[in-house]
Amino acid sequence: MSAHDGEAPDVDPVTGYETTGHDWNGIKELNTPFPIFVITILGLTVVYSIIAWLLLPAWPTGRDYTRGLLGLDQGEMAVAGYQRLADGREDWMARFVAGDFDAIVADQALMAKAMPAAHRLFLDNCAACHGTDATGGPGFPDLADSDWLWGGDPATIAETLRVGINSPHPETRFAQMPAFGHDQMLERAEIETLTSYVQALSTGQADPDGEGGTLFADNCASCHGDGGVGGLGIGAPSLVDGHWIYGGDRATIFATLQRGRQGVMPTWADRLSEAEINLLAVYVSGLAAEHEALASR
Ligand code: HEC
Ligand code: HEC
Repeated sequence: MSAHDGEAPDVDPVTGYETTGHDWNGIKELNTPFPIFVITILGLTVVYSIIAWLLLPAWPTGRDYTRGLLGLDQGEMAVAGYQRLADGREDWMARFVAGDFDAIVADQALMAKAMPAAHRLFLDNCAACHGTDATGGPGFPDLADSDWLWGGDPATIAETLRVGINSPHPETRFAQMPAFGHDQMLERAEIETLTSYVQALSTGQADPDGEGGTLFADNCASCHGDGGVGGLGIGAPSLVDGHWIYGGDRATIFATLQRGRQGVMPTWADRLSEAEINLLAVYVSGLAAEHEALASR
């Protein structure tokens, strides 16, 4: 029973609300009604939760749980969705197992399905080193140009991916740029001359009959090809194309000749399936043409 039992309710003159009747040294508490809005929301949430309990899985019952009238199970839905995806993929992934590259590339419907998946596979496994657009960076070759260390047809690329380069795989591709300075195969002055010569090669101003040209023919052409055009398929890059793995400035070329280079490309044989390797090989093989088409637009 309130303090003003039997009396007229105490009304606050400013707000017009009744007070609770309590009085603390002249301070009174308003008896403000709970806002209808809040009560409505509260009521709606209660109604919603009762409906949700009825329709959806909700209450644990020991080892089981109430399934709800709709019988939804997000776990089962996810598994079913994944299965649908895998079934859809299996059809065309099977084509990559055999690795009949000419037939694959010619099949435009297949390529339209496969290349977006290949792009994702590339982003997941290769982009960390070769870049998201596959154009490489210092130490990692550009895969989107048409100059290759080992070769740019799908079969050769698939083999590069399978065994790696300077990798622990027993059949690894092996490539080494010798350390001409460190291993005292050439004098410092000769290395200086060759550094200038390599720079001249990349701008098309090299004189093959000069001192640099003779040194190059004697020491370098066996791996880099006559005039440094590369393309021998033994891992040595073209030196005339203006693309560099390590760099074309004087200091970097000098360091390459002084200390040698031996880049490592991992083997993917134990990390990707044969079909995935073939899928990536087709993808990487097509990048050069794709980039040229973009550039000429
Ligand atoms: C850990 C870094 C690294 C990763 C990851 C990597 N690569 Fe490489 N890759 C290299 C290096 C370094 C080279 C060059 C090796 C050399 O200098 O001889 C190379 C070379 C290559 C080549 C040879 C290019 C040519 O001109 O012949 C291909 C093709 C290639 N990578 C494709 C891939 C693909 C596809 C993936 C993903 C499955 C991948 N790489 C992942 C580091 C990597
Ligand atoms: C035994 C074979 C071999 C010989 C001989 C050789 N090279 Fe190389 N060279 C390579 C290989 C393989 C690479 C790539 C190394 C890598 O990618 O890790 C390379 C890389 C280079 C690069 C780096 C190119 C870049 O894109 O950054 C330069 C520059 C170069 N060589 C110049 C020379 C010169 C000049 C000579 C002669 C004095 C020479 N090479 C002799 C195998 C050779």
